[in-house]
Amino acid sequence: MQTQKCKIDPQNIDRSAIVQAAQLLKDGALVAFPTETVYGLGANGWDAAACKRIYQAKGRPSDNPLILHISNLDMLEQIVHEVPKAAKKLMDAFWPGPLTMIFPKADAVPDAVTGGLDTVAVRFPSHPVAMALIEVAALPIAAPSANTSGRPSPTSAAHVAYDLDGKIDMILDGGEAQWGLESTIVDVCENPPMILRPGAITKEMIQPILGDVAMDPTVLDKPADGKKPKAPGMKYTHYAPKADVYLVRGTHVAAYINALVEQKRAEGKRVGVLATEESKTLYDADIVLSVGSRADLEEVGAKLFGVLREFDTQKAEIVYAEVFPYEAEGLAIMNRLQKSAGYRFLDAE
Ligand code: TXA
Ligand code: MG
Repeated sequence: MQTQKCKIDPQNIDRSAIVQAAQLLKDGALVAFPTETVYGLGANGWDAAACKRIYQAKGRPSDNPLILHISNLDMLEQIVHEVPKAAKKLMDAFWPGPLTMIFPKADAVPDAVTGGLDTVAVRFPSHPVAMALIEVAALPIAAPSANTSGRPSPTSAAHVAYDLDGKIDMILDGGEAQWGLESTIVDVCENPPMILRPGAITKEMIQPILGDVAMDPTVLDKPADGKKPKAPGMKYTHYAPKADVYLVRGTHVAAYINALVEQKRAEGKRVGVLATEESKTLYDADIVLSVGSRADLEEVGAKLFGVLREFDTQKAEIVYAEVFPYEAEGLAIMNRLQKSAGYRFLDAE
């Protein structure tokens, strides 16, 4: 299959490109498009066969449900059975934006979207290209992140093409994603509502609006035996570059990492370090990549997946990564980093 690539300026949208992409979606094709979090791989949310094609293209396990993307609240009425009170509050505060909510599903939503669950994940993105595409297609668009399953989510059209070129019909290239980490997922069917995946809308932002919000314990800890994350997708190895990633915590991190690097290089390994603007000059490794400044965790979130992919491009075999605080935006960063490392920590003195 030939994948058509189309550049589109989010500030000055070429309507004819959107009309073409919308027509492809209506015809059952797969179109990757930019959102403010990461790129999505879209299909017509009413079309079970088209949604199944998403699973094939990504190599995604079939029990991992998709998010339906909407561009107005009339669409929400068609796909959910009920709008819980907490959802109304969060919607008013954060939609359109990087927040996904889990609702009781309407009967009309195909099982291919929900993986057979009686709930459905819904997001109203704020990216102008995503909004225009959904509005013109006049369909809820089912879209997971547009990466091969298990790889870091794509924050640029080049990342999408690297993973899915030849497997999907079209890529709309709207430039770099603004947030760079996937949306926050809140299950509003729970009481109190529960954060299943941390993201740009932080617990600290949600708390004052709902009063009380819970956190799926697997957000921070490796799922204990028999304990599965509520978001099926969060149980898979994820966000992982090909290298073995280790997270290094403690006080003298740079010295500790440099000693390990020396040892691994002596064994003939190509070693990378995931550093920050503040620390990058401290390391002596084959590949030292900065995810931005510690003073700006939004920047770190935006750069993280691109840097994890860059370690692959530069053929790292082992990556030692610094850690970040488990609060505000840091929580989403650590959640993704822990998964990319398979929860392997090393303690520096
Ligand atoms: O920012 C995002 O959310 C991006 C953009 C494209 O919108 N999308 C995204 O989709 O990250 P995906 O498929 O990569 O992640 C969706 C997550 C998965 O972990 C999935 O298991 C979970 O949402 N999910 C979907 N439906 C669910 C449901 N009914 N109940 C619980 N978790 C659900
Ligand atoms: Mg994903």
